[in-house]
Amino acid sequence: MKTAEIKRRYLAHFEANGHAVVPSAPLPAIDDPNLLFVPAGMVPFVPYFLGQQTPPYRRAVSVQKCIRTPDIDEVGKTSRHGTFFQMNGNFSFGDYFKEGAIPLAWELMTTSSAQGGLGLDADRLWVTVYLDDDEAYDIWHRTVGVPAERIVRRGKGPNFWDMGIPGPCGPCSEIFIDRGPEYGLDGGPEVDEDRFMELWNLVFMQYERGPGAGKDYPLVGELPAKNIDTGMGLERMASVLQGVDNLYEIDEIRPILARAAELTGKRYGAHSGHVASESHPDDVRLRVIADHLRTALMLIGDGVTPSNEGRGYVLRRIMRRAIRAVRLLGYQDPALPELLPVARDCMAPSYPELAAEFGRIADYAYGEEEAFLSTLRAGTTILDTAIAETRSAGRPALSGEKAFQLHDTYGFPIDLTLEIAAEQGLQVDADGFRRLMADQRNRAKADAQARKTGHTDVSAYRGVLDAGGPVEFTGYTELTRESRVRAVLAGGGEVGAAAEGDTVELVLDTTPFYAEGGGQQPDQGLITVGGGQVEVFDVQQPVPGLIVHRARVVRGEVRAGETGYAEIDVTRRRAISRSHTATHLVHQTMRNFLGASATQAGSLNAPGRLRFDFNTPTGVAPSVLHDVEQQVNEVLLADLEVHAFITTQEEARRIGAMALFGEKYGERVRVVEVGDYARELCGGTHVARSAQLGLVKILSEASVGSGVRRIEALVGMDAFGFLAREHLLVSRLAELFRVPGDQVADRVEQTVTQLRDAEKELDKLRAQLVLGGAAALAAQARDVRGVAYVGTEAPEGAAGNDVRTLAQEIRGKIDPARPAVVAVAARSNGKASLVVSVNPAARSRGLAANDLVKAAFSGRGGGSADLAQGGGLPAAEAPTLLLTVEKAIADT
Ligand code: SER
Repeated sequence: MKTAEIKRRYLAHFEANGHAVVPSAPLPAIDDPNLLFVPAGMVPFVPYFLGQQTPPYRRAVSVQKCIRTPDIDEVGKTSRHGTFFQMNGNFSFGDYFKEGAIPLAWELMTTSSAQGGLGLDADRLWVTVYLDDDEAYDIWHRTVGVPAERIVRRGKGPNFWDMGIPGPCGPCSEIFIDRGPEYGLDGGPEVDEDRFMELWNLVFMQYERGPGAGKDYPLVGELPAKNIDTGMGLERMASVLQGVDNLYEIDEIRPILARAAELTGKRYGAHSGHVASESHPDDVRLRVIADHLRTALMLIGDGVTPSNEGRGYVLRRIMRRAIRAVRLLGYQDPALPELLPVARDCMAPSYPELAAEFGRIADYAYGEEEAFLSTLRAGTTILDTAIAETRSAGRPALSGEKAFQLHDTYGFPIDLTLEIAAEQGLQVDADGFRRLMADQRNRAKADAQARKTGHTDVSAYRGVLDAGGPVEFTGYTELTRESRVRAVLAGGGEVGAAAEGDTVELVLDTTPFYAEGGGQQPDQGLITVGGGQVEVFDVQQPVPGLIVHRARVVRGEVRAGETGYAEIDVTRRRAISRSHTATHLVHQTMRNFLGASATQAGSLNAPGRLRFDFNTPTGVAPSVLHDVEQQVNEVLLADLEVHAFITTQEEARRIGAMALFGEKYGERVRVVEVGDYARELCGGTHVARSAQLGLVKILSEASVGSGVRRIEALVGMDAFGFLAREHLLVSRLAELFRVPGDQVADRVEQTVTQLRDAEKELDKLRAQLVLGGAAALAAQARDVRGVAYVGTEAPEGAAGNDVRTLAQEIRGKIDPARPAVVAVAARSNGKASLVVSVNPAARSRGLAANDLVKAAFSGRGGGSADLAQGGGLPAAEAPTLLLTVEKAIADT
């Protein structure tokens, strides 16, 4: 039975039993900051289990895409570990409990295939229950009729399920299939989990667990209701129903494996029997390739892109493992273009969006493979040398420095260094490596800080922060503010006071000045303190919570402790706020057009202009950019209200606020929304209504690194000014070309073509002019010791090419039976040059063009015996050159 069919029957069975069919959530677990990817079918339903939200249904069924990577090293070595898998699950939120879940599962499993079930032989099924769960035991034994000898009571490890983090949990009951004596020992799952393979887990969710490692956590309470969460591994079920040995051989994976084997010239399964018994390394590699590439396909399909952090790093690591496995099988060329389309064809029946989006997916995947292959080429040689050196020095481990150098200089990933070293029986000083990494990180942080603040040492700032607490920013609602000067700093320490002409850093207790952050440029303005005044030119937060004004004292003196009056430059602030709101609109609109993977990768909000960097594998078509611009401007006209509010992270996520990936947000977050159009977590300042932006004009879109593109745009009067200038330019051109503005481009193109044609014509005429005289000149050949000699100057301005052609032409017009030498001198740019052409009859008399040129230029010049040239003497020398050639002929 095909995997897609099992999935279909599963959903149909539970739908017929009153369950709502819920589509799979995307793989990235965006709703849970503790998880990178959804690892189980129940994850999207956690708020229902915990009673935080009311479910819209009391029974649900889903086939959820899942990723688990803790067992990544087991992939290919056992029959049942995959990084990507699909979990079929049925759920009850306070509706049925054990008495419902157990028979529902049993019915689907054991109903014959002809009657729409999965058709498993009941005699091959075993079940487990939690130690003291007599209720489940009785249902299995009495209601369902499973004989007592195939019901096993097991402890917390296997039979008490939780997510690995605080959340819902409960005892569980699992269903196993006996795959037969060839897979291992008899005696049930307690004895051999390869022979007895778990197919289905029924969790009786009724408690909430607290923090703790492994199974060592407290139960912090009962859930508001008794729930059911079940999980049936689709791939495992498919392997059983398709009668294959392991999950890598099912219909959704095997073709990838087969193609990889074909490509690398390996025969899969040539060496061994079942997976659980020792597998040949080549078979393991083929399985790794198949599993990992399918995972990569699904991840990129769900918007994850390779990077060095978080989810992107997991994807990168998975892809690199697969790519390396291909190398280890002896295939050196890029393999993904051969393999990924196979993975697509395997998965598209269940996930048609993969076929639709394949262009984008492939761009990322193939790009990553190419980048990694060049890293591998550079790094492997260096690593091999280092390993050989380590060996010959008799050391047991590769030094941390070497591993760090490979990582830092060549981008060679540490896990690969570890893996390759291990294959060669060497260890790596991983602690040393980590120490060096940490040092580097700290250095980079200090550097970044120093660049922003001018100090490497932040202890003075810390002192000011500790003494007075965080500085309150009041600038969301105020443009001016009276506040006490808490500290005056200069040269990295507190100074108490500063006089006219000094550059200082001022800290106020509260301030309307916005410190640079979130891509938004800092405010500027004035602070008046007593009789003194400072001009603020920059505002930074050198340590979180401390706003520091960098300023010049322009009048009088400022002292700590005095009260100051702070006023920001309102025009600048408004222009920056317009840009910031515009950035949100561009971000949302890009996503509308390019999909959710077009996430922000950086931004700059400056007065009147913005820069927006975003992730995408390919350029954006000009027509799309045009549509984006148009939609943004339509939002301006709609005059939407811009509204900011503080809420919990959870609520923000619920209402779909965009958050920047990799950014840390506190529990309370600020959400900025532009009407219903855009909603984003943001600490910046904005306009009050979208119409205040006036106009947004996109100027350009270009690449700024692999997978990252940049949009630059103007906002407000700057956008208007730009368009007005462009308009003037077009008007002026229209006037000059005497056509309406919309015909200027055509006219320019026409003119350029005409000009080019005219130039060509001119060249032709010039050449004709030069060559036209060739016959007359040939007729004037003089006899120099039996050699017909023509020595002449080319017309003024003749090009080098024409001079050469002229010399050849004259020579051609002289009877070949006569030995002939033609010398043409030319003057251009104040220099004289010379071309000499010699015919075969003259050559057999011992004359050579290159010798003659050398004679004229005292040894310099080049060419063949046939045709040679020289140059570089003053223009006035032209006649002398001709005479020298004539003399040289005479002397030969
Ligand atoms: N949550 C359980 C599991 O993942 C059942 O769905 O096994």
